[in-house]
Amino acid sequence: MSSIIENRQITVGVTGSIAAYKIVDVVSKLVQQGAVVDVAMTSAAVNFISPLTFQSITGREPYVDMWGVHGVKGEAHIELARRTELMLIAPATASTMASLAHGFADDFVTLTALATKAPLLISPAMDSQMWDHDATQINLNLLQERGAHFIGPEQGRLASGQIGTGRLAESQKIIATIKSCLGKLEGDLTGKTVMVTAGGTREAIDPVRYIGNRSSGKMGNALAEAARDRGADVVLITTVPETAPEAVEVVAVESASEMEVAVSDHLERSEVLIMAAAVADYRVDQASEQKIKREHAKNIDLKLVPNNDIIASIATDIVKVAFAAETEDLIDNAKKKLLDKNVNLIVANNVTGEMSGFGSDTNIITILDDRGQIEELPVLSKYSCAMEILDRISDRLGS
Ligand code: CTP
Repeated sequence: MSSIIENRQITVGVTGSIAAYKIVDVVSKLVQQGAVVDVAMTSAAVNFISPLTFQSITGREPYVDMWGVHGVKGEAHIELARRTELMLIAPATASTMASLAHGFADDFVTLTALATKAPLLISPAMDSQMWDHDATQINLNLLQERGAHFIGPEQGRLASGQIGTGRLAESQKIIATIKSCLGKLEGDLTGKTVMVTAGGTREAIDPVRYIGNRSSGKMGNALAEAARDRGADVVLITTVPETAPEAVEVVAVESASEMEVAVSDHLERSEVLIMAAAVADYRVDQASEQKIKREHAKNIDLKLVPNNDIIASIATDIVKVAFAAETEDLIDNAKKKLLDKNVNLIVANNVTGEMSGFGSDTNIITILDDRGQIEELPVLSKYSCAMEILDRISDRLGS
């Protein structure tokens, strides 16, 4: 499966912050995933990191000297600005933000940013006192009003040794936001909201114990990531928020009842619901408010009462996709669930298989639909399975 960033023209503007070295990792990952990356640097950035580093990674000469004869025809920054599909400025200093906000163009980074029509992503890095300053905050607002997207800065330890807001966002987050932005430019799910549930629900027995299941949340996460990469706004309702992909809206839940409420809260804005979560069919009738002590426990009888079937109870006219995680009679069980739950698609997999079990990075899925079609797919990564499922959803949406 090719990456959303393969063959995309991305310009990375690097400015003079100690965090500049971190952006080498971002550029390297973009190149590894097939992007064509040009790097533009301010002269201050060159004090922190050598243009040769970026040249070695990208195989392309960075744009540094705005007075040099760099372009083949016309002015180099105009040529770069024209072919750029997305511009990332990272790390962006307070002074670069000020230049961008007020239209100054006195180095290669700000020149290109002023000349390009491509979306602008800005990842600031500076001391928290500079970040908090009214001047920076006003520049932030101005840039956001004009449509620039900000990634970070994050809280944490700063170069000064102080703790505060001003750290460059993590590479993973920057790359995820690039994918999401590129997806929105021409993805088939742009303008759609896709709700995905992930993980296994936990039904409390007492404050420390629960009834759970073996779902890892990986399939739901892959679906959220793939939908994001195709331009969708993604709401991920999950019991494992710590593993959620970046650049999606995460709603953390534990029990089936909490998941049901969260799904219902986001239903109106969604065009698609994909229930990849393993939802407990039963919950403990009266969970103990205090930890159940051993001395009280000879035999314990837990009375279980049924949970609502979340997807089956949704009457709204959206594309509904359920999963059938089975250990036997895969197709028969899936067909029954397709009807019982009144869904458009059902994704069936045998969870006892080595390549399709819980926690595996691959899956072997069969997709059944309400038009009678049954398609068995080969072993694929969970991301590729997600793309296959989204292809069929996209057809339904008529996009
Ligand atoms: N599901 C749901 N609400 C529930 C239980 C399941 O929305 N209370 C959804 C799951 O997220 C999944 C599909 O229904 O998309 C099938 O879940 P599964 O556990 O395989 O099926 P069940 O309906 O629970 O049937 P059984 O446990 O008997 O196999």
